[in-house]
This record gives sequence, C-alpha cells and structure tokens, in this order.
Amino acid sequence: MATNSVVPGQITTIERHILDQQLIHPEATGVLTSLLYDLALAGKIIASRTTRAGLAEILGSTGEENVQGEEVQKLDVFADLTIYRLNDHTGRVAVMASEEHPDIIPIPDHFPTGKYVLLFDPLDGSSNIDYNVSIGTIFAIYNRKRWNGPGTVDDCLQKGRDLVAAGYIIYGSSTMMVYSTGHGVHGFTLDPSVGEFLLSHPNIRIPEEPKYYSVNQGYQTYWTEGVRRYTEWLQGHEGQRKSLSLRYIGSLVADFHRNLLAGGVFYYPADTRDPKRPHGKLRLLYEAIPLSFLAEQAGGYASDGRQPILDIQPTHLHQRTPLFIGNRDLVEKAEAFIREYDVK
Ligand code: AHG
Repeated sequence: MATNSVVPGQITTIERHILDQQLIHPEATGVLTSLLYDLALAGKIIASRTTRAGLAEILGSTGEENVQGEEVQKLDVFADLTIYRLNDHTGRVAVMASEEHPDIIPIPDHFPTGKYVLLFDPLDGSSNIDYNVSIGTIFAIYNRKRWNGPGTVDDCLQKGRDLVAAGYIIYGSSTMMVYSTGHGVHGFTLDPSVGEFLLSHPNIRIPEEPKYYSVNQGYQTYWTEGVRRYTEWLQGHEGQRKSLSLRYIGSLVADFHRNLLAGGVFYYPADTRDPKRPHGKLRLLYEAIPLSFLAEQAGGYASDGRQPILDIQPTHLHQRTPLFIGNRDLVEKAEAFIREYDVK
C-alpha cells in the first residue's frame, strides 16, 4: 500500500488537520487556523467556477491587461475577488498583495487589521483556462513586521525564510489543497459529494528517484550555455546516470505538483528572449517563494541558479526570478552548471 494513502476508516478533514497542527504551537491563538480555512473555502468557491467554466460564460478574456502586461481572464478576476472578499473583514490580515494588482491591497478602514500578511496568485496558469488544463491558486502567509497601523509594502517584501505558511490549490482532475506551516507538506483532496477537503497525501516527500524534468524547451535558443548543458545532462548526456522523461504543462502549479509526487525538476531559467525580462517569467513573491517553501519542506530544494530562493530579499512586489525547483540533487546540479559556464 502506498505510504501516502489514507488509512481506511480514518477521515481527516482539512479543518481538523490544521487544528492538530496548531497544537504543535502552544502559543497559537487559532488565527492562522482560521486564515488557512478561509483559503480552503476560497479554493472550494473557485473550484466550483472552474469546473463550470464553459457553461457559466466565464471562458474568455475581459479584454483588459494586468500589471504584468498579460491578458486578464474572467476567472482570474473572480478568483482574485473571492480571496480578497473572504479576507478583507476578518481581522486576521494586515495587508494583502496579489499578482493581479500593481500595489498592495490595504484592508478597508472600517474593518479591523490582523497580524498576518497574505500574498497570492489567484489563478496561476490562467492562459490555459480555455483548454481545460489544470490551473491553481498559490498563497503565502507572513507575520506582519510592525504591530500597529495599516500593513505596508515592507510587510510584503519578506524573505521566504520568514514564511509562516504557504500552499496551493490545484484545479485538475480533482481539486487538491496542499499546504505547509513548516511541519511537512500535506495534501487534501476535495470530495465534491461532501464539499470538504479530506487528507489524502499526509507528509509528502519528494521521491528520491526522480522521473521528470520540466521546462519550456521551445526557448532553448535563448538559454545560457550552463542551462543548455544542464538540460543535456538531464537527458542522459554528460554522465547523468539515467535520462529523465520530459513533462511540461505550462501551468506552474500543475508542473510542480506532478514533480512533488513523482520526483523531478522544474525550471524556468533566465533567457534572452525579452530584454525587459532578463530574469525569466515567474514572480518571486507569488510563485517562486511559496512553492520553494513547500519544496524544502518536502525534502527538495529551489534556487535561482545561484542562491536559494528562500534567501532572496525581495525588493519589489512584482519581481521576477529564474527558478529551478525539485529534487535537491537535481537543483544543485543546475547551480553547478551555471557556476561553471555562466558566472563570469
Ligand atoms: P499565466 O498565468 O499567464 O498562464 O502564466 C503561467 C506561468 C506559469 O504557470 C507557467 O509555469 C509559465 O507561466 C509558463 O510559461 P511559458 O508559456 O512561457 O512556458
């Protein structure tokens, strides 16, 4: 029997699990538990829309561009609003920031502020919506830095090492929520018949023997020599013990989730395609940091090719970063190739 399967007869809801995790921290007040549960609720609401996408006239674009210059999909707007509205009035959050907004999202004056900072990518991989490909919500939670007044941009610009919790909800063949509060990574599958996330993947560890490498190889001509040689190594050239299979969905949550369960490495390196984006496409705050936290909690590692993602001090909200994430030895090998061929 797979170690990750649920013992028959024992059903753990996500609420029960979060409460149990809270017991590890005797000083905990239950606020984080409630915040995580609010995010699970947001996931359920968003899932209810993604599964009806074609039916509910939600497919297609609003015709607007977001701060990243990308077309905004209607479901992005819905997911963004859902998370905001579930968290603006609870007194748990001091400030929010979303990939869809140029600036921080303050808590309205007439609502109380709380101790946490919530960062999120409401619908990652949204360019895939029209094609029925898995998409996801990613979140990161920090303590606020100062204890009074409204939350600030500084509260949002914290290193990944300071994270309190992070996770994602994947809308795929089933809906799953995967999260960590720094005590392992745990996955829950939404049972639509009861409307609850049930523990299906306790204590996820990245398998030691990796199966996949995941990268958009269509951009190969724009890569550095180090990244090109690293890819050849993954393919079995240059002394790699066994070639890995290539799997690339183009939806970060889905690519990460598969590699988390099957073992492997995902990378979106810096490239020379667009001089305005010298650091690749992915966002440090909303994508790279929270997933890197989960990777490390599952025994893996994440790097920008030169340093651990979790050690990077963010300087602005929409900062982009190269990302190599997955099995520790595979990511360290990427760093070694980059050190040897790219660092001048
Ligand atoms: P978007 O939300 O605009 O669809 O971007 C998705 C991100 C990420 O999920 C994925 O890993 C990456 O973009 C794919 O980008 P490429 O199409 O350039 O490979």
